[in-house]
Amino acid sequence: MCGIIGYIGENKTKKILIEGLKTLEYRGYDSAGIAISNESDIEIIKSVGKVLKLEQKIKEISKLEGKFGIAHTRWATNGQANEANAHPHQVGRVTLVHNGIIENADNLKCELIKKGYHFKSTTDSEIIAALLDYYLKENDILDAIDKTKKELKGSYALAIIIDNKEKLYAIRKDSPLIIGVGDNENFIASDILAFIKYTNKYILLKENETAILEKDQITIYKDKKIVNNKIEISNIKNSSNEKGCYEHHMLKEIMEEPIVLEELLDEYLNTNKNKKLDVSEYNKIDIVACGSAMYAGMIGKYLIEEYANIEVNCEVASEYRYKKNFYNTKTLVILVSQSGETADTIAAMRYAKTKGIKTLGIINNPNSTIARECDEVILTNAGVEIAVATTKAYILQSMIFSLIAYKTAKSKKLLTEDLENQYNKIPEYLRIVLDKKEEYLNLAKKLYKNETCFFIGRGIDYAICLEGSLKLKEISYIHSEAYQAGELKHGTISLIEKDMPVFCVITTENLKDKTISNLKETDARGAKGIIITTEKLDFECEYDKIIVPTVSPIMESILVVPNLQLIAYYIAKLRDCDIDKPRNLAKSVTVE
Ligand code: G6P
Repeated sequence: MCGIIGYIGENKTKKILIEGLKTLEYRGYDSAGIAISNESDIEIIKSVGKVLKLEQKIKEISKLEGKFGIAHTRWATNGQANEANAHPHQVGRVTLVHNGIIENADNLKCELIKKGYHFKSTTDSEIIAALLDYYLKENDILDAIDKTKKELKGSYALAIIIDNKEKLYAIRKDSPLIIGVGDNENFIASDILAFIKYTNKYILLKENETAILEKDQITIYKDKKIVNNKIEISNIKNSSNEKGCYEHHMLKEIMEEPIVLEELLDEYLNTNKNKKLDVSEYNKIDIVACGSAMYAGMIGKYLIEEYANIEVNCEVASEYRYKKNFYNTKTLVILVSQSGETADTIAAMRYAKTKGIKTLGIINNPNSTIARECDEVILTNAGVEIAVATTKAYILQSMIFSLIAYKTAKSKKLLTEDLENQYNKIPEYLRIVLDKKEEYLNLAKKLYKNETCFFIGRGIDYAICLEGSLKLKEISYIHSEAYQAGELKHGTISLIEKDMPVFCVITTENLKDKTISNLKETDARGAKGIIITTEKLDFECEYDKIIVPTVSPIMESILVVPNLQLIAYYIAKLRDCDIDKPRNLAKSVTVE
């Protein structure tokens, strides 16, 4: 949610900032802007829309050369996506870019107006710039920053230039910001990917610290004293954010699923790390997450309840801490997040910790806030995911839940069968599933002109439907709803019209006949059924069908969801949508 990049070094500032912004675009792409210091001035250029537009504008109107600068790609929270609201914001001696949301912005603005400040934008970020400028009038820089921090309620990651001095300042609270350590050059960014091409050395900035970057020096202060934070080394590859031979990141990431699954199984199934998967000491589990991560949690709920016989509650993170939760001494809270930076999921984790409840994170980004703060972490190691709509990270989250259910059921002696061989075959089966591109494309050709559709299923198949439906609506803008198959007739069936597609997922043997009956109810009203089922449960019918290899139901969802991901992908492609950057979305949602 908003991407920040700052650079200080030599004259390639513009190139590095623009490249960085392009890498960070998954965090928001409503507008973008850049501020670069030339000898005499700080030049600011902003534009509405994607970074490409900003790049064109720079080419047309400016040379924009300098040794340091900051840049920003925005996902609008406070104020519309127009040029005035685009960052950087400049007030008096301060130029800054901001990611986050300031909750007391209106009060601060009133106070600053009384002090004579005027505002050009309707953002909370410009208010921070004014506040810092105000404190700079009577304080040294560190004191002014500290006083500003004390007044801000909400979340922020800030990269700041003060005056036109060759230094960058960085502070953060509840929003990510990382410092890149280069050779005679240094970086600030929301994500290491923005500078990984130049350095794999980085420093994690803590919440109560202020970093000052010069080209050959990084100084970090806490309470006005210098602290020495460790320099870490990242093993992320520079090529991780490239599309390779694929047209879209999303397609590349779906195609990577078998390989990342292989790695995950090697790491967790076939080694002693699998001890972490055994949750038999708990008798109640709350799974808390947002978006697709929550839907992976729904898969977890069905599997852990069914196989490990533990009560599981799956909750949307934005609701969790505002409601009554029932804990006992054997409760575990599982947080699921690709980024590990989703604001609501972080808040849910901190809430559970204040109640003394054990927390386990299923996280993709090892350096993220949740990975650092959770009591226990299971890393999915899906690698970098660039497409805004998650695919491979979701699949690995679901696989972790399947393994938790399996290992816990084994440890509780509720399951005697050894499934290791079947698990190890999943990547191979998935390759077969992903190979059927023509089938998905042909189906997409039949469906892409529809404006609305349903996904129906019962039990775990309903959880699968939730993700299939979300994927389709996120990237194709087709309105879609996932429904428990039996519930459809209690109102929603009134929406069924002639030729409306109804995707019907059937992987659960004992629910097959009932689900088919529900599909027939829609069929009788003119709907166009599409069956997604296993080889074992396949049956003669007139419907379009997608058939997946049969494996144990504990792992079947891993073979079904990729079909739905690919169907969504091809439908979105035929509708000419911006697949990797769907409108209004951001990959990492760092505001509540
Ligand atoms: C955003 C993304 C979703 C993602 C959700 C949770 O809404 O667009 O794809 O599932 O955030 O993100 P997380 O990083 O916590 O998994």
